[in-house]
Amino acid sequence: MTKAEQLVRQEIRRLGPLPFSKFVELALYHPLYGYYNRKTPQRGKAGDYFTSMQVSSIFPRICARLFSSMKEALGCDQFALIEIGSGDGEFLEGVLHQLNIDKQARGFRVWAVERSRPARDKLVKRLSRFDRCQVIENLDQVEWMGTLEGCIFSNEFFDALPFDRYRFRNGQWREQLVGEQDGALVEMDRDIDKVQPTEVPTILADEIASGHRMEFRPQIAALFEEWGALLSRGYALTIDYGHPREIFLSGPRADGTAMAYFQHTASQALLERVGEQDLTAHVDFTQLVEAGQRHGWRPDFFSSQGVLLSTVGETLISEFLAGGPEDQRHNRAAVVRQLIHPSAMGEKFWALLQSKDAPLPTVLTGLPNRIKRLI
Ligand SMILES: C[S@@+](CC[C@H](N)C(=O)[O-])C[C@H]1O[C@@H](n2cnc3c(N)ncnc32)[C@H](O)[C@@H]1O
Repeated sequence: MTKAEQLVRQEIRRLGPLPFSKFVELALYHPLYGYYNRKTPQRGKAGDYFTSMQVSSIFPRICARLFSSMKEALGCDQFALIEIGSGDGEFLEGVLHQLNIDKQARGFRVWAVERSRPARDKLVKRLSRFDRCQVIENLDQVEWMGTLEGCIFSNEFFDALPFDRYRFRNGQWREQLVGEQDGALVEMDRDIDKVQPTEVPTILADEIASGHRMEFRPQIAALFEEWGALLSRGYALTIDYGHPREIFLSGPRADGTAMAYFQHTASQALLERVGEQDLTAHVDFTQLVEAGQRHGWRPDFFSSQGVLLSTVGETLISEFLAGGPEDQRHNRAAVVRQLIHPSAMGEKFWALLQSKDAPLPTVLTGLPNRIKRLI
């Protein structure tokens, strides 16, 4: 039995069955035994999953162009770029590299916000050569709270947040908890009205097939409140895998979207290998929009990663494909395809732009915009 599982069982004996989000919190983020605090890699070939960062540095370089366009739209001298959940820092390294090439870096101040200690150590190593870039554990460490103009960016941050699980049975939603039975961890149900009142009942559909399951992330409203207090004007740009709410309520998602990832194999064995496997669920982009609206964030733009990268990055992609050694041309084409093709990451990942007192950046005007699917 893993150390993290021992801790989960202790908590169950102390408090009774745990809300699913509490179980995920311990399994992923316990300071000593949580999955994200292990020294072994989580991402890449030696880890359990890939993100766009392991595919190619063309991804952050294209985003650098988008951030420059945001800066221009805000008309500010100093643009605050804050990445939440920076992982090992490949994204900010690529962005800062491109901003240096474009001679834009002096107008940017950058924060890498990362909860995991081992990841923060790697971030410091990777980013220390860049001026005006700070690695921090949480947003309390940002000076000038409330006066900054800029962008809060994340890639695959929301999918890594703890989630609760609910199932519809006999005409009502029930919460699924993690308990202990006959010496094993098991999922068990309880009535939803016995828990603290939350916003959950408002997002769960009244008319749905019996057995339908949904995940829900309880921290999201508080995050948008905090982000709203951080920036006086600016943007929140979120890239992640997920869908509008209507997809979660449809038949093909009837069993929810929670998955465990271990050595690049997905399973539904969420209660096994506690602390040694990643736990995740698709992101409900409608929840991000609703939470943002309550705290002053206007939903502006929603598109697939493929559309975003191929339009904002048209010039950079052409240069990338044409440049470099001839014998690696095939590899360069393959990584671009992996990032933008609909059957690869292009339509699995989506980009949501929310703004606070800020106009749409010029590079996004005229692009196909699916934001109405979230409102
Ligand atoms: C799936 S990884 C993605 C890493 C990176 N953005 C990428 O695309 O490769 C999620 C990261 O978010 C971090 N994280 C989770 N909750 C966080 C929080 N509240 N504040 C800062 N980082 C957080 C995790 O430690 C982890 O490094």
